Amino acid sequence: MRILITAGPTREAIDPVRYISNQSSGKMGYALAEAAEKAGHEVILVSGPVNLAPPAGVETIAVESSHEMFEAVRDRIGDSVDAAIFCAAVADYRPKNIAAEKIKKNSDSMTLEMEKTEDILGSARSVFGFKGTLVGFAAETHDLEKHAVEKMQRKGCDLLVANDVSRKDIGFDRDENEVRLFFADGRDERIPMQSKADLGVALIQKITEL
Ligand code: PMT
Repeated sequence: MRILITAGPTREAIDPVRYISNQSSGKMGYALAEAAEKAGHEVILVSGPVNLAPPAGVETIAVESSHEMFEAVRDRIGDSVDAAIFCAAVADYRPKNIAAEKIKKNSDSMTLEMEKTEDILGSARSVFGFKGTLVGFAAETHDLEKHAVEKMQRKGCDLLVANDVSRKDIGFDRDENEVRLFFADGRDERIPMQSKADLGVALIQKITEL
């Protein structure tokens, strides 16, 4: 199969030296890319800024902002992609205006006006017309099942991989992860805690079966 994977955080610029981002290290997305490549699939990895080496044998496209990630996915998802896995932690909001020069510390507080970013996963079916197997991730701190199932249905996913990021031993930046899987056909599975490398292999196996 040809598999497109998004990974890592995005950075949303405030001015030439500052940005808003999140805790994603890219480890989970890179583990998926490595597992897919080792299983013999052709992999396109669209990655936000991370401190990881591009996986061998994987076409890696480096992006910074959610808008750049949106454009990279839009430009490649039509290229005979069979499965798309959205593991990136994309910013939901970005500063509405990016200051051209460094903002000076002239007042005791400051307010940033934010606007919504493009929903890349949410665009896969409705905007990009993607017909292949669509896998979303969800990072939740509470009501995991309710939010995950709602996201799966709203974004047209075949599978939603739900992460409990309220736990400190799994999720963002850890080497281990534990997830729950919610399938569009109503199945619900739990994959116990293991290394992200092993979890990547298990998830690629599940996605291949879909
Ligand atoms: O990178 P690591 O440190 O290894 O951590 C892994 C992880 C915890 C980041 C990963 O396992 C994970 O949970 N990724 C999803 C993070 C996330 O942003 O979840 P969300 O619930 O906010 O988003 C739901 C889905 O929509 C995700 O598939 C996301 O990629 C996608 N999305 C969200 C917003 C947006 N503007 N565009 C998107 O495509």
